[in-house]
Amino acid sequence: MLRMYYFSGTGNARNVARWMTEAWRARGREAEEIDIAATDVDAITVRPGEDIGLASPTHGFNFPPITLAFLFAFPRTSWRNRVCILNTRGGVRLFGVYVPGLSGVAQLLAALVFLLKGYRVVGMRPVDLPSSWISLHPGLRDDTIRAIYERCEAATRRCANRLLDGGRDLRALFDLPQDLLIAPISIGYYLVGRFLFAKSFIASAACDACGACVTQCPVHAVRLLAGRPFWSHRCESCMRCMNHCPKRAIETAHGFVVGFLVAFNVAVAALVYPLVLPLVPVLSGAGLGGTATRFAFESALMLAVLFLSYRLLHLGLRFRPIERLAVLTSLTHFAFWRRYRAPHRGQLTR
Ligand SMILES: Cc1cc2nc3c(=O)[nH]c(=O)nc-3n(C[C@H](O)[C@H](O)[C@H](O)COP(=O)(O)O)c2cc1C
Ligand code: SF4
Ligand code: SF4
Repeated sequence: MLRMYYFSGTGNARNVARWMTEAWRARGREAEEIDIAATDVDAITVRPGEDIGLASPTHGFNFPPITLAFLFAFPRTSWRNRVCILNTRGGVRLFGVYVPGLSGVAQLLAALVFLLKGYRVVGMRPVDLPSSWISLHPGLRDDTIRAIYERCEAATRRCANRLLDGGRDLRALFDLPQDLLIAPISIGYYLVGRFLFAKSFIASAACDACGACVTQCPVHAVRLLAGRPFWSHRCESCMRCMNHCPKRAIETAHGFVVGFLVAFNVAVAALVYPLVLPLVPVLSGAGLGGTATRFAFESALMLAVLFLSYRLLHLGLRFRPIERLAVLTSLTHFAFWRRYRAPHRGQLTR
């Protein structure tokens, strides 16, 4: 029996979970896909002989908070159950060459947690499906998506069959050097970066307040405030809302984010430090300790000002000139900036 747990924003990890369960069933074994976002982890019991799978996107060189919370709360085992970890990453194809994504600490952290809980980690495989990070780049073209999917489906099924034959697939360990090198960035993303992205979403005047983004969000991060979607700090930037909005009304407010960062940094250098340093000498400390203290201070201040500025932006969006300014300085607004949704079974190549 395979219990295949997954979290998915735009559908890639959901498809990986499906390929795994299909491979299990093709060998006459039972298998079940379970959506983490709809599961009470405290109600899970692990039985002897049961195999466990985990599929989730990589966010900021780590698993997203919802997957990490699930992982940390997952029950221990006394039966050394086998575990397979599949992190979907952002793959692209440039001039016919497939460029893989980067796992960072996603695989290593998950493997460590499972090992400490008594599991046997027999599968660690990154799956380089089309990148969903539409805040940073336009969605890939259909032919590229199809080509990437064909490769990844074959690789995932090979991995499943190797495990079904009693073997291992630890492909993720090949990436160990670069994963360790970028590990510190995952901490910065987890503590600061993800909140900046969460506060970059806006709904344009095309929004008709249908509420689809509210009901579809896996972490309940959107609410309608004065008839307009408002993204809370709980948003994990999974990109589901932006890619599913029936009015294509959700944009990443690039102009707002860049303007905010420039204004904040100028204000910190020109105003905050000259005023605060004489009062808080610890902030002028030298060496690593001083740098870490200033980083913590600036990050906390930045997040506080960001949350306030985002609330003001949300209020301002009611006024046409502010809405136009925010939308026209957003790259996602342009027609060539495609959205991305993972293909469903019927749309897949086989
Ligand atoms: C906020 C965010 C952060 C991401 N960070 C990474 C990353 O660190 N490394 C990577 O390879 N891909 C990254 N990606 C790409 C996704 O992991 C990738 O497209 C994944 O297959 C999406 O899976 P899903 O469709 O199940 O959500 C990121 C995507 C988003 C939206
Ligand atoms: S899904 Fe789109 S149109 Fe519907 S409420 Fe959300 S932003 Fe508005
Ligand atoms: S608000 Fe949108 S991007 Fe954020 S977690 Fe919810 S669905 Fe994902």
